Amino acid sequence: MAASRHVLMCEPTHYRIAYEINPWMRTLNAVDGARALEQWRSLYGALTGLGVQVELIDQHPEVPDMTFTANAGVALGAQRGSEGSHTASPRFLPSNFRYPERAAEEPYFIEWFRDRGYAIEEVHRPHYWEGEGDLLPADGRAFGGHFFRTEERSYDHLDELLGVTIERLELTDDRFYHLDTCFCPLGERRALYYPPAFAESSRALLERSFDDLIAVPEAEALRFACNALVVDGGAVVMNTGCPETEAALAARELRAVSTPTDEFIKAGGSVKCLVLMLDAYGS
Ligand code: ARG
Repeated sequence: MAASRHVLMCEPTHYRIAYEINPWMRTLNAVDGARALEQWRSLYGALTGLGVQVELIDQHPEVPDMTFTANAGVALGAQRGSEGSHTASPRFLPSNFRYPERAAEEPYFIEWFRDRGYAIEEVHRPHYWEGEGDLLPADGRAFGGHFFRTEERSYDHLDELLGVTIERLELTDDRFYHLDTCFCPLGERRALYYPPAFAESSRALLERSFDDLIAVPEAEALRFACNALVVDGGAVVMNTGCPETEAALAARELRAVSTPTDEFIKAGGSVKCLVLMLDAYGS
């Protein structure tokens, strides 16, 4: 994956556990709002400190999970010609969320991208698809997770919109309900993954597709070790408490930068879920 330098985040001003749509969420397990804000600001500070340009969208009060911008859709940057001229305008493919609680976010994200000159291209409505949470680029290819939130058939239309054949990966463990909770491409045909989260044939496809697949231990997968953001320059930003994963990265000259996200794990998300990449494709 091209390492990120430009992302979209949403400050969690109205983040809370208001419903239960994955096994991590328990409405009784209330978010400490002040702590969540503090953790989000630390992540923001870590990213900007690493040179990442962070765009912001305001959280609408009625959509508590809007802070997880990775699920908004996929942003395709402006395509540049050989002389640096723009050959096509940037495009935003908005998600078709599975649950109505999150589908209510769609208009806010669409408006944000439309206001910034992105052409909005809807993915065929009948099929659920939850954006970058389930669709990750890696080394010129794209990997699409499906089963819990995204329907495999959505990728037929996404293949056309992206102009690539998306490699489809079936997810099998509901604790790892989005692809970005159990898989993190690191560039140079290397990736982190949690093998038991995948159907056997999908695990085999991953094993064929990468030269260096790093299996994360269960305890760290449950601390969202795979839900990391690779930043330009070789830093991998992730939740705290994943020492084996950090050591595996260090052995490959990648530097783990850890920042606490446990208030967000209450909703089933960590670093990568809180970020939407704006430069992963094109430009
Ligand atoms: N509570 C949110 C949901 O269930 C968490 C989203 C996490 N995002 C992600 N990209 N894995 O939709």
